Amino acid sequence: MKNVADHLEILRSRLSNASVLKSAEPLAKHTTLRVGGPADLYVEPAGESDLAETLRFCKEHAIPAFVLGRGSNLLVGDAGYRGVILCLNQPAFCQIAFEGCQAACGAGAKLKQVAVEARRQSVTGFEFLEGIPGSVGGALRMNAGAMGGATFELVQSVRVMDFNGEIRECLPAEMQVNYRHCAALDDRIALSARFQGRPGIKEEIERRMSEYSRKRWSSQPAAPSAGCMFKNPAGIPAGRLIDELGLKGTRVGGARVSLEHGNFLVNDGNATAGDILGLIALVRERARQERGIELETEVQFLGA
Ligand code: EPU
Repeated sequence: MKNVADHLEILRSRLSNASVLKSAEPLAKHTTLRVGGPADLYVEPAGESDLAETLRFCKEHAIPAFVLGRGSNLLVGDAGYRGVILCLNQPAFCQIAFEGCQAACGAGAKLKQVAVEARRQSVTGFEFLEGIPGSVGGALRMNAGAMGGATFELVQSVRVMDFNGEIRECLPAEMQVNYRHCAALDDRIALSARFQGRPGIKEEIERRMSEYSRKRWSSQPAAPSAGCMFKNPAGIPAGRLIDELGLKGTRVGGARVSLEHGNFLVNDGNATAGDILGLIALVRERARQERGIELETEVQFLGA
């Protein structure tokens, strides 16, 4: 992006003072993998009108825009991103409001907090969100799941904004939802969603959440990662496949296949995006050569 400083000033003049704007923001600190170069511009809009204004600005200046959730399913290239990164983490986007068994949640709300609030309200169905290190918006876009549950099983409706700043309410049936993908959010931004749970018993909800947490800590690594790197192919979970191929512990630079779970590629502390990409290529090549399986990444890529 040319004239970053000029664009920063123009955009600043169009947004309210409560919006946060930065240039050359390192994206490594916004992703759980802890890799990735700088974004030309980084914006935390104060509310929906500033978000819409930023999108209109991007359109007028032909600048690409990308909405970052909690960065837990994202691999950003070492060269960073030549455009505007939007992060919906201001309070206007983070509400969690239960009314009976229905929850209205902003895209920026943390999934763990949604699960904790559901427990407080004795509403069941949200327990699987407990350990997903993401935001509501990211979970909608990815149809994130764990422990046999998936986000869209709870969704009643989603408020979305298109890249012209227009808002509408969508029903799941029109959102092309699949395993780890919601096509309707490829070119729209989720602002908030209504989720439907069921009446539950607090102690049972608590027990399920503890059980999920125990399962997760015993089978998944604590080192920085983007969760599962590959979608599970038909016939065999990717983690078991990578394990059977003997690839656990395999390294490229500072990137390593986790010893705890084969589908987690972890950053040992000094990995670059290039290292992670090299390791992805190595794993895919072995799966192709030895089993004839094409592994598809679950993690999203951003930048060169
Ligand atoms: N397995 C191995 N070796 C390994 C890893 C797994 O043999 O190194 C075996 C396990 O013993 C199990 C099977 O493979 O029999 C499946 O493993 P697991 O139960 O861990 O589930 P998964 O399919 O690998 C999925 C989600 C995870 C989610 C877990 C728990 C995908 C790609 N992954 O993993 O989601 O946390 O279930 O419910 O669907 C993510 O999406 O980022 C993610 C971590």
